[in-house]
Amino acid sequence: MGKNLLDLKSLEVSEIHSILEQAQAFHDGEVFHGLEGRVAANLFFEPSTRTQYSFNMAECKLGLRVISFNPAGSSLQKNESFYDTVKTFDSFGTDLLVIRHVENEYYNQLLGHVNAKILNGGDGTGNHPTQSLLDLLTIRQEFGRFEGLRVAIIGDVSHSRVAHTNFEVMQRLGMEVCTSGPEEYMEEGMHFKPFEEAVRQSDVVMLLRVQHERHAEHMHLTVEQYHDRYGMDRNKLAWLKEGAIIMHPAPFNRGVEIADDVVECDRSRIFKQMNNGVFVRMAAIKRALCD
Ligand code: NCD
Repeated sequence: MGKNLLDLKSLEVSEIHSILEQAQAFHDGEVFHGLEGRVAANLFFEPSTRTQYSFNMAECKLGLRVISFNPAGSSLQKNESFYDTVKTFDSFGTDLLVIRHVENEYYNQLLGHVNAKILNGGDGTGNHPTQSLLDLLTIRQEFGRFEGLRVAIIGDVSHSRVAHTNFEVMQRLGMEVCTSGPEEYMEEGMHFKPFEEAVRQSDVVMLLRVQHERHAEHMHLTVEQYHDRYGMDRNKLAWLKEGAIIMHPAPFNRGVEIADDVVECDRSRIFKQMNNGVFVRMAAIKRALCD
């Protein structure tokens, strides 16, 4: 009974649609009582605001009890390993483990060793399934379809689990996806387009944070150069097609990849994405514990 959610690439398209249907139903007010009193542990070994606390919100809405984990106050400080930390929470009898960790596919070492269901809140530069699902829900609400839409993912693509997850799933759903940004952050095989062309042609312009904490070397551009060349500002908004929207997984760097006054402009769906995050996470939890 129930299913982990570790990545999206191993899910059938029909399964992705059914999670989105359930998320939309929760968005529209559906209430579910079947999980009241179950216990979730949110184990975020990397910093997180939106993913961590919208999982928390989703758990609250479904009536779960929630254990939040504070790495700085845990035995990680005594060199306890990731594996032993997760095993500890599992041995308490938790029903659900929501995990974020810096290592790509950290979950492989846990499979077969824990009883609780695992929901991946982000693994290294690899997968971020619930972020992609909330992006997809936002796009579906906006356009009513996926087929034929053009998406540009712009910025620090190579370090971004959001870019990697979306690039795969969006193409599978029939969207045309390109990437753009500084050469140092581009990846082979991810359909590079020059920035202006990418922005002008797309229905969805998805901006990414410059992830300084993941860089071995400093960015070659200054912040001002980045903003000038790849940042979305008022002037570049004029390049957008009619009906095109701006998205960003956040946290955003105001004045770097996005200008202050673009964050909440009429093209932006950034806070809508955050709202949808609660509903896709409710759907992922229900699937993990009930389906
Ligand atoms: C992203 C992440 O941590 O993968 N944020 C998020 O979950 N909404 C992107 C980022 O940190 O830039």
